[in-house]
Amino acid sequence: MNRSEFLRLGAVASGVFALGGVTRIAGRSASAQSAVPTIDRLVMTNVVDNVYDIFAKSGQLDTITVQRTGMRFGTPALMAEHGLAYHLESVRGGERREVLLDFSLTERNLFQNYKILKVDPSSADALIISHGHADHYGALPDYARLMVGKMKPNLTLYAGGEDTFCSRVLVTPGGTIDHGALDRGALEARGIRVVLAPQPTIVAGHAFTTGQIPRLTDFERPPAAGRLVAGAMNSACSPTHFATSKVEAKPGDLVADTFLGEHATVYNVKGRGLVVITSCGHAGVVNSVRQAQKAAGVDKVHAIVGGFHLAPSPDEIVARTVEAFKQIGPDYIVPAHCTGLNTIIAVHREMPRKLVLPSTGTRVVFGA
Ligand SMILES: [Fe+2]
Repeated sequence: MNRSEFLRLGAVASGVFALGGVTRIAGRSASAQSAVPTIDRLVMTNVVDNVYDIFAKSGQLDTITVQRTGMRFGTPALMAEHGLAYHLESVRGGERREVLLDFSLTERNLFQNYKILKVDPSSADALIISHGHADHYGALPDYARLMVGKMKPNLTLYAGGEDTFCSRVLVTPGGTIDHGALDRGALEARGIRVVLAPQPTIVAGHAFTTGQIPRLTDFERPPAAGRLVAGAMNSACSPTHFATSKVEAKPGDLVADTFLGEHATVYNVKGRGLVVITSCGHAGVVNSVRQAQKAAGVDKVHAIVGGFHLAPSPDEIVARTVEAFKQIGPDYIVPAHCTGLNTIIAVHREMPRKLVLPSTGTRVVFGA
């Protein structure tokens, strides 16, 4: 990718956000320079995840702090569900930004957890949706409804592509799971500005999205169960819209889902490196990290945060992923959501000092 193009796209897409604070960091070659902002600190709060473990340990590791949220009987507790939502608070000098990434499955759980974790959802400076599955966008329409008159002016939602708003299903041996579709028009009607970010894009002046993720590895494949529901011809969800070759399909037919518009969220933490959050990782966690490195012009990866969507994968794919992790050399791996016990066990066996187990209500503090 051309660096000047990146900056231009970042400036356009981030609207009112200035690109001040952009720094240059040595990248993979002496001539490579980073085109993304550097922040001093990131507090990553796992607002909703698949698991809530009240026994998970808090503590200071070599360069991060892990905080947990306990419970008191008789008071509302954090709720886990098959879903993912993050609150991302970043600091650079005296400047503070808040980003909400993904919105879990249900309003009840997301908003109860916001309250318990003292996250004010109306304080968000920007929103990011990783892809169009209901366990990530489920409570976003509720967010839009509840935040009318409360959200910041020009609040922007960054999506990786038009297919984020297409109907999706999973075809499994146990039956078809309907993920529905996120209604872009309904969000805009509530006052949320929607920006498609197929290229790497700076968000709220502190974060960046990877843009669409090239499939580089030969072992990472989109989930076999994923399908897009073909929409009307010439629409954003038409059967020919996502295919590089001609697809013989009529509106309503199910087309293999390549998750074209899925993107990852990244921060460049001063003196530490990149924190890459894959959300569901259908594009491949290794592909996602490689794209983050390329977009930033920064090789050093501080943390790889899930989900990695390896729960249904055979042992060989898990082993190759962990081998790739070793080559990337992150300081920490945080295998959230759909990662799967198979991969958590493999990371624990191969890289035990790097493993940080997440849980609903976990806060990880990166940087100074
Ligand atoms: Fe997911």
